[in-house]
Amino acid sequence: MSSKYLILLVLAVVDARYHPEAPEPRNLPPINPLEYTAEYWFNEAQAALQKRSQRDSGQNVARNLVMFLGDGMSVPTMAAARTLKGQNEGRTGEEEELFFESFPGIGLVKTYCVNQQIADSACTATAYLCGVKNNYGTTGVTAAVARRDCNASNIEANRVQSIAEWALAEGKDVGIVTTTRVTHASPSGAYAKTANRNWENDAQVLADSQDPEVCADIAQQLINMNPGKQFKVILGGGRQEFIPHNITDEEGEPGLRTDNRNLIEEWQQDKTDRNLSHAYVWNKDQLKSQFESPPEYLLGLFEGSHMHYHLEANPDTEPTLEEMTEIAIRMLSRNEKGFFLFVEGGRIDHAHHANYVHLALDETLELDKAVGKATDMLSEDDSLIVVTADHSHVMAFNGYSARGNSIYGLSSQTDSDRMPYMTISYTNGPGARKQVNGVRDDITKESNFGELRWRAHVDAPRNSETHGGDDVAIFARGPHYRLFSGLYEQSQIPHLMAYAGCIGPGLHAEGCNGANTVHVTAILIVITTAVKFLFL
Ligand SMILES: *[C@@H]1O[C@H](CO)[C@@H](O)[C@H](O)[C@H]1NC(C)=O
Ligand SMILES: *[C@@H]1O[C@H](CO)[C@@H](O)[C@H](O)[C@H]1NC(C)=O
Ligand SMILES: *[C@@H]1O[C@H](CO)[C@@H](O)[C@H](O)[C@H]1NC(C)=O
Ligand SMILES: [Zn+2]
Repeated sequence: MSSKYLILLVLAVVDARYHPEAPEPRNLPPINPLEYTAEYWFNEAQAALQKRSQRDSGQNVARNLVMFLGDGMSVPTMAAARTLKGQNEGRTGEEEELFFESFPGIGLVKTYCVNQQIADSACTATAYLCGVKNNYGTTGVTAAVARRDCNASNIEANRVQSIAEWALAEGKDVGIVTTTRVTHASPSGAYAKTANRNWENDAQVLADSQDPEVCADIAQQLINMNPGKQFKVILGGGRQEFIPHNITDEEGEPGLRTDNRNLIEEWQQDKTDRNLSHAYVWNKDQLKSQFESPPEYLLGLFEGSHMHYHLEANPDTEPTLEEMTEIAIRMLSRNEKGFFLFVEGGRIDHAHHANYVHLALDETLELDKAVGKATDMLSEDDSLIVVTADHSHVMAFNGYSARGNSIYGLSSQTDSDRMPYMTISYTNGPGARKQVNGVRDDITKESNFGELRWRAHVDAPRNSETHGGDDVAIFARGPHYRLFSGLYEQSQIPHLMAYAGCIGPGLHAEGCNGANTVHVTAILIVITTAVKFLFL
């Protein structure tokens, strides 16, 4: 086996370790067959929206729509991160507030997907970006598409549109910003239709014995297909997905593509051919040089794979999420019809999977800074900002520590064998230690105790910590923020945003005034009348 395939294989294995596949279910109650259609989830969301909109008020509409996504940002993660935020500034910490915790709208979201109790970032991205729940590991398609079923993903009825497409249809601009590869599961929900989240480059499609000509890989979809090719801003990591295996990127890492295509060059060529001002950047200085008068189109790929954890990144060469968010908003704000922007703090999830508490909390604070920047730049009158997470993690914030105790430190108390334990630990993951004579090890004696990559202790040993199935929080600020209160399906989120922003196929806010609103209201009246007629 040649080294390039070995590298491919290793990368695939590392990613599969984060999100392994589920065993075949046995003797479980059947899933409602209607859930395999887009209509089911649209109707579910529209009915809930219809109900909640009766308690909504405010004539403003959201010209600009921004969604911030903390990948794996569970409720305990937020509580711990806010404590770290205060402690970083020398205070006790528990009383601190994240920027988005001051938002006036808050709700809770159910994250399961159609075939799994506990979701991954691909099915959840389909829920919060396309308004439809589907199967674990798939994006932009309904649950009628099983994972790796390339043919099914090409059937028109199985493909769903994202809120980014709804925004483009109304003349708004669109951007995506992430700390992961831009082809990774969460951002891909804005543009990709795929039966497998791992199909980030053509070699991965081939590895599943599928034809990349029939089912285009995710990088290819972003650069050469709609809606990706219309995105004005694309910032994050993942250069390797875009370049051939026999060339290396700017930092010496080989590409992963086997189709001999250089999609970065193709992106540039497409903009040149269409006489559109554009720039490709791959480091912080180049990004900064675009701040004053940014081009119309900007592609920034700052790492071969994911961007580094903020605490481990070279601050001179890698931009922060806040910096990427700032230039994205500057660029997109030039469209008087407004924009949709997706910003992801994507590595909270990865740090949790590795039981790296300090890194997970710091990545959460980086997302929070980006939210703070956006709230500074965008008015509450015309910009809806939503902050949420895709799924939870199994991090526990536990014990009876004293007020102000270091959030990533030892609990103030010991266990019943007088062994120390951490305020934050996990129910599973790679941080498991073998007990000796039924007694836990003294973790404080470990040589890397207290380092960034020291793993918190856990109960069930696994090579990667798992997601959690508990609800995640959602925060909203701006027009129609009240709609976001309550506890509801994750697939309602884009419908709520579309309502406030006068885009998409469903119900729109009163202030939208457009023909669409009248149209939809009329249809709803007709349906309601018909339903009443049938049942009377
Ligand atoms: C997918 O469709 C193609 C073309 O119709 C067909 O040749 C192929 O057998 C199908 N693959 C599967 C797995 O059904
Ligand atoms: C990479 O391989 C392709 C064919 O597989 C070849 O056409 C191309 O010239 C190679 N590029 C380099 C830089 O070696
Ligand atoms: C391209 O754009 C420039 C500047 O906007 C303009 O001067 C030029 O005429 C355009 N060329 C074509 C072929 O449209
Ligand atoms: Zn994950």
